[in-house]
Amino acid sequence: MNTSAQGLDIQAPAYVKNPKLVAWVAKMAALCKPARIHWCDGSQEEYDALCQQLVDAGTFKKLNPAKRPGSYLAWTDPSDVARVEDRTFICCEKQDDAGPTNNWMAPAEMRATLQPLFDGCMAGRTMYVIPFSMGPLGSPIAHVGVELSDSAYVAVNMKLMTRMGRAVYDVIGENGEFVPCMHTIGAPLKRGEKDQTAWPCNKTKYIVHYPETREIWSYGSGYGGNALLGKKCFALRIASTMGRAQGWLAEHMLILGVTKPDGSKYHVAAAFPSACGKTNFSMLVPPAAFAGWSVTTVGDDIAWIKPQADGSLRAINPEAGYFGVAPGTNYHTNPNCMKSLGKNVIFTNVALTDDGDVWWEGMEKDTGGKLPDHLLDWQGKDWTPQIARETGAKAAHPNARFTVAATNNPALDNAWDDPAGVKIDAFVFGGRRSTTVPLVTESRDWTEGVYMAATMGSETTAAAFGAQGVVRRDPFAMLPFAGYNMSDYFQHWLELGATIQGQGGKLPRIFTTNWFRKNAEGKFVWPGYGENMRVLKWMIDRIEGQAAGQETAFGIAPKYNEINWSGLDFSAEQFDSVTDFDQGAWAEEMKLHDAHFDKLAHKLPKELMSAKERLQRRLGAL
Ligand code: GTP
Ligand code: SPV
Ligand code: MN
Repeated sequence: MNTSAQGLDIQAPAYVKNPKLVAWVAKMAALCKPARIHWCDGSQEEYDALCQQLVDAGTFKKLNPAKRPGSYLAWTDPSDVARVEDRTFICCEKQDDAGPTNNWMAPAEMRATLQPLFDGCMAGRTMYVIPFSMGPLGSPIAHVGVELSDSAYVAVNMKLMTRMGRAVYDVIGENGEFVPCMHTIGAPLKRGEKDQTAWPCNKTKYIVHYPETREIWSYGSGYGGNALLGKKCFALRIASTMGRAQGWLAEHMLILGVTKPDGSKYHVAAAFPSACGKTNFSMLVPPAAFAGWSVTTVGDDIAWIKPQADGSLRAINPEAGYFGVAPGTNYHTNPNCMKSLGKNVIFTNVALTDDGDVWWEGMEKDTGGKLPDHLLDWQGKDWTPQIARETGAKAAHPNARFTVAATNNPALDNAWDDPAGVKIDAFVFGGRRSTTVPLVTESRDWTEGVYMAATMGSETTAAAFGAQGVVRRDPFAMLPFAGYNMSDYFQHWLELGATIQGQGGKLPRIFTTNWFRKNAEGKFVWPGYGENMRVLKWMIDRIEGQAAGQETAFGIAPKYNEINWSGLDFSAEQFDSVTDFDQGAWAEEMKLHDAHFDKLAHKLPKELMSAKERLQRRLGAL
């Protein structure tokens, strides 16, 4: 199919049979005015050629093949290192449908704003046509998109992160649906001009969603969730609005399988905010004392969850790879992740060793505390332990990441690619809180669970641009990702629960966790990582009716002797320090719940107000 775009022959391959898609590409090419168009077929040859092109352009460094075969390192512009929440917009007709937690602009106004920015934005560059499926190709739970981008970095990352390539056109067919995703780094080149930098981007950034027409327009950034539009933009913001309309859930959740020594298996979906432990929990290696137990990964970041006719909830991971946080990852914290990173990885903003390998803060735990003598840091500057001591300079950016195909993961669940998904037995919601919130509790019912998730607080991390370590409410770990009004989102969760219960279905249990309480010295008290297995086992015991627990103001908590402590020296006093309820701290916490609900008051479900009153009564009785 050939359609001309102002003199540029767009040359769609013969296997692209969808006239709407071809017309859209032509229209976008006419707007963005690229020098050429590359229709991605998703092949290995194409991937290798694009990586080589990125090496030639200076964007990629090829890592030492003896140390890290098939792997590359990219250093971004220092202004383009994380998602930009204050530049992220939900553009629906009514502001009320975006709600008080989202930036909003009327669609017509936003289109008028973006039009001149996109006009000619790809001049001198290649426009990549990137067809991808979120979820197994052809699965009834999956949805497809096509991203147009002027970044080869985006094209190769999409190959690892999604099912990307030619087969997607068969799914789209002649008249199938796809979500159109426009992306530009916003750095057009004049005739004959060459890039002055290895990471061209634009100071002006817009990450825009039109939920009513299911479109994504991203301008100015080449990084992560700003640019890999299948991830947060499609699989969370657009998909959450689809889920609301169609009766399913798109969530910022890992999915793991946990198998007991007797072979029985459960699946847990857990929502932790960005950089709060999803990848780690999804790849958990149980401590030695848990002989015969195993944890397997279905997904590490996003879950699409659909109610079934039998009253169960089944979930798929719409992604096919991991875009994970590097700093803090080592053989002690996450051995399965380290094993996943042996080959065929794209690293972004980690440090480069003198022998052509990668390094980041936390890796010294694997070398007995010894730091490398010399590195090039993520900005290409010399780094030595002395420089680090004197200036505090980090070798890797705190939000440095790896991109790797899920199939690299030695703990990959054998159902990870199953179009039918896996049955969810429990939801977990966990923030990063230095104080107040206990290690683990279970909600007494669905409504209390929704209340706990809706009021979750977390300290902000380097995963988003801006201040760090500030406690903010991050309901369901979806604050930056809900594509519609947060109060309507709570209502959707409550209704889904009521519908399933009404049909006689069995709802998953709901737990909250906090791995991050600190002591007076500012050190984490709970050992975390693999030791989280002890908490996970208690959850399974609860599901099986094997642990009575004890009532607290904020759900059912474990008694000290209900946790398997074998192989870990953790006293009842230490346990107390990660589980106790500080009356003063909770009084302050409730003020924050109040302020949060005040902000959402307009459409806030009444059930949540009643749940708050019940909690307040229990706290008063402490
Ligand atoms: P996103 O990809 O941003 O959504 O992050 P994520 O939720 O997958 O977080 P990830 O597992 O990558 O962990 C982020 C940071 O938290 C890393 O530096 C980890 O070392 C640290 N972390 C993860 N789990 C634990 C834990 O159990 N305890 C402590 N103290 N830190 C943890
Ligand atoms: C997150 O911030 O939650 C991420 C990274 O998973 S990004 O893809 O950049 O959104
Ligand atoms: Mn995430």
